Amino acid sequence: KKVVLAYSGGLDTSVILRWLQDNYGCEVVTFTADLGQGEELEPARAKAEMLGVKEIFIEDLQESFVKDFVFPMFRANALYEGCYLLGTSIARPLIAKRLIEIAEATGADAVAHGATGKGNDQVRFELTAYALNPAIKVIAPWREWDLNSREKLIEYAENRQIPIARGKRGEAPYSTDANLLHISYEGRALEDPWEEPSEEMFTRSVAPELAPDKPTYVEVGFEAGDAVSVDGEALSPASLLRRLNDLAGANGIGRLDLVENRYVGMKSRGVYETPGGTVLLAAHRGIESITLDRGAAHLKDEIMPRYAELIYNGYWYAPERLMLQALIDKSQEKVTGTVRLKLFKGSVQVVGRKSPYSLYRQEFATFEADTVYDQHDAAGFIKLNALRLKILGLRDRQA
Ligand code: ARG
Ligand code: SIN
Repeated sequence: KKVVLAYSGGLDTSVILRWLQDNYGCEVVTFTADLGQGEELEPARAKAEMLGVKEIFIEDLQESFVKDFVFPMFRANALYEGCYLLGTSIARPLIAKRLIEIAEATGADAVAHGATGKGNDQVRFELTAYALNPAIKVIAPWREWDLNSREKLIEYAENRQIPIARGKRGEAPYSTDANLLHISYEGRALEDPWEEPSEEMFTRSVAPELAPDKPTYVEVGFEAGDAVSVDGEALSPASLLRRLNDLAGANGIGRLDLVENRYVGMKSRGVYETPGGTVLLAAHRGIESITLDRGAAHLKDEIMPRYAELIYNGYWYAPERLMLQALIDKSQEKVTGTVRLKLFKGSVQVVGRKSPYSLYRQEFATFEADTVYDQHDAAGFIKLNALRLKILGLRDRQA
């Protein structure tokens, strides 16, 4: 009877809005989130009103996005398949959570989204929706309708007076998803994995070869695993990420060109810009390098791929993600201090780190004469560790 639609105001979700009204005969409530995608949201309100929507929710969720989703994920140093910083994956559970909350507040019995039936996003939206409200109905028009081409979509819109913003050269746009953490590009020429992305596509970073010839130094302050300041200035989570985006983007940092494995089974080529996140990951590893014990650090690294895969696949609200999060959060209690980084032509390097909880002890590590470490101890340490290797060697030489 009533459905809450994740509405961007773009062509696809505008057609979905109208399609829901036509095909389900239900009242549509729209929800538009500002996650820092850098687009005006008021046009979405005007469009929704024009399409007869009475309950319109437009919310600025940037702080919550960074504080409650991005930061917990960065405590884990999460990377999917070695390099993807999960910029889209981490935003989906927040959007789905608000869809469910709005459904409950407006008495809706269903939610709808504009993800296709071939991708990851449908899984992420729906796993979250069902986890948070087992009784909810989910409508995914892309899996139901026969508007499976750009032309049909545009024709549907034109026949029903849905306004269409045409691309500059009239060509189909890349499939993109943007928020404060990243922007993604898929489709079009990128579908050929041999084809290099064209320079005009990028929006959040200068080309590394055009970046300044002088490095930019930046200091990131951490408290209990989360970044809290840039160059000594305390910043809210969203403003901090915005600041890092600006500094890193100006230095050509954070581009990624990747063929990844989607949860639904196929390989897909994606290009990403995650400037601030790329610096944040390096900085976080930098502060962990002096504040985490080896056992803790290595255990985190072992579970990281599993944790990243859970987020990629949409299991943010699954017990195993929450269990891993508890472990990760426990490790971060003393991950406090400052990291100094050098940004230069597409690269980010940690060049300094300090912490009141540092485990780094110059007296132990020094190559100079010392009194705390007896080099004779190392001989027995190596002998006992070598024992089983010697026994193996004896056996295999006999054979
Ligand atoms: N392949 C990336 C991921 O699965 C990006 C998906 C982008 N989504 C979109 N609706 N354009 O996280
Ligand atoms: C989509 O299919 O809607 C976008 C790509 C993805 O979800 O992986």
